[in-house]
Amino acid sequence: MDTAKLILNGEEYEFPVVVGTEDEVGIDMTTLRSRTGAISLDPAYGNTGSCLSTITFVDGEKGILRYRGYRIEQVAESATFVEVCFLLIYGHLPTQQELETFHNDLTCHSLIHESLKNFFDGFPPPAHPMMVMSAMVASLSAFYTGTGDADEGDLNIIRLLAKAKTLAAFSYKKSIGQPFIYPQNDLSYTQNLLHMMFAVPAEPYEVSPVLDRALNLLLILHADHEQNCSTSTVRMVGSSQANLFAVVSAGISALWGPLHGGANQKVIEMLELIRDDGGNFEKYVDLAKDKSSPFRLMGFGHRVYKNFDPRATILKESADEVLAELGMDDPLLEIARRLEEVALEDSFFVERKLYPNVDFYSGIIYRAMGIPTGMFTVMFALGRLPGWIAQWKEMMEDPHVRISRPRQIYMGETERSFVPLELREAEGRERPEPVGV
Ligand code: SDX
Repeated sequence: MDTAKLILNGEEYEFPVVVGTEDEVGIDMTTLRSRTGAISLDPAYGNTGSCLSTITFVDGEKGILRYRGYRIEQVAESATFVEVCFLLIYGHLPTQQELETFHNDLTCHSLIHESLKNFFDGFPPPAHPMMVMSAMVASLSAFYTGTGDADEGDLNIIRLLAKAKTLAAFSYKKSIGQPFIYPQNDLSYTQNLLHMMFAVPAEPYEVSPVLDRALNLLLILHADHEQNCSTSTVRMVGSSQANLFAVVSAGISALWGPLHGGANQKVIEMLELIRDDGGNFEKYVDLAKDKSSPFRLMGFGHRVYKNFDPRATILKESADEVLAELGMDDPLLEIARRLEEVALEDSFFVERKLYPNVDFYSGIIYRAMGIPTGMFTVMFALGRLPGWIAQWKEMMEDPHVRISRPRQIYMGETERSFVPLELREAEGRERPEPVGV
């Protein structure tokens, strides 16, 4: 299988076929237009590969997710989030020395410029934390202009990884009117994030090992996922050679959408709606099936997984453990379980292979950790940060990388002569619907 044949207007064309290390098959269409004059058309890119990548592999049919070849189940069980950051970005599991150096770098770059703190005062109180994160991450480029050369690039990777958690914690503190808590150099990455979010000046704060383990797990499970919407945004914006901070800011904005990372917030809001409606699961399952209704079961379905999402399986088990270890009981977890049962017995969901995805159970754990719903997608962004960085770095190191510029098929008016306003008025031409302001 080394070529694919296309017959167009009676002409036969052959295109090379690329076969990946997991036997995925791609037809190389890079010469399609120059040879045939035609383009491929694939809105939402469901059938289109944008790149060759060595970072993450997902098999949606088999429910497999691997980071640099390591199964997510093993990584989630045995790694720390900082190890996963190193693995995704630099391509191998770190040695003890590499890990210590990496950890120290992340620790020493955790502070943000004091002037940057003032930016938080400019946001109105109801500003969504994802909006704040996107703006603040982009603003880092005002302080680290960067010459774009190699070691500046590596230093900006460290700066972004280290400062993003501080920006997230500060945006949370700002949203609840509490003073910022500065990072502490004796804490790990996740301990520091919990400390900056939940410590208060007046009292000592001890980071709970249960919360620290749960946070490590949540960040690891979100760390990368091939060419999803926000990662494709990062590659697209990065291909113009915009700086890393601007690139990741764009990724944060893409992740915010309720069909993508914003779903974890919508799942909890949906479960609360069902709870407040007397736990009437069937009503909402029926609503999700009703084409005339915009309602969807948030946290269900996936473009790639047509079987279970391995991350959802891990989170479903972890939700039980975390709540039990915290001695908590959350009625929303029971509602989530019942909703999953009812949906997976319904042919509508079974036929469409709609299963719980990573967002379905994550919010239950965030809630148990005391993280407010509005911060859920920010936590997703912190987890996805190493993935975005790794994918951006892989693209920028590709000697053949070009600016991304898709084509289109034009379906509008063919050429016509312009009619000046006075003529249009004089002829009382039929007026198109006035364009709303
Ligand atoms: C993430 O790509 C990634 O890797 C993303 C992610 C990552 O790690 O980066 O995994 C993270 O974004 C997970 C997805 C979070 N989003 C949600 O939970 C929102 C709810 N889910 C959907 O909106 C939907 O399932 C998507 C957006 C996730 C996938 O959309 P697709 O692939 O475009 O599928 P579709 O909308 O074409 O749906 C196919 C059919 C349709 O019905 P029919 O037209 O065939 O009759 O399934 C139905 C849809 O109406 N459907 C749903 C549904 N999801 C799909 N019906 C009810 N509830 C749902 N959740």
